[in-house]
Amino acid sequence: MEYAENKVICHCKHVTLADIDRVLHESQRFSDVEKEFAHVQEVTHCSTGCGGCHDKILEIISQRISG
Ligand code: FES
Repeated sequence: MEYAENKVICHCKHVTLADIDRVLHESQRFSDVEKEFAHVQEVTHCSTGCGGCHDKILEIISQRISG
């Protein structure tokens, strides 16, 4: 599934797809989905509320990793 850049992925913390992509682009170790998730979470605080966006964010990160 593709999301628009300004789409809010995490509603609790108002994190958009662009926010997530920005963190991923800065990352030097773009290989492990779980590690990237932790990094994205650290920077954006996404998925620290209800947790409902967790799977969406993992999906986005794995899409980016697999190209
Ligand atoms: S939507 Fe992301 S934590 Fe609730």
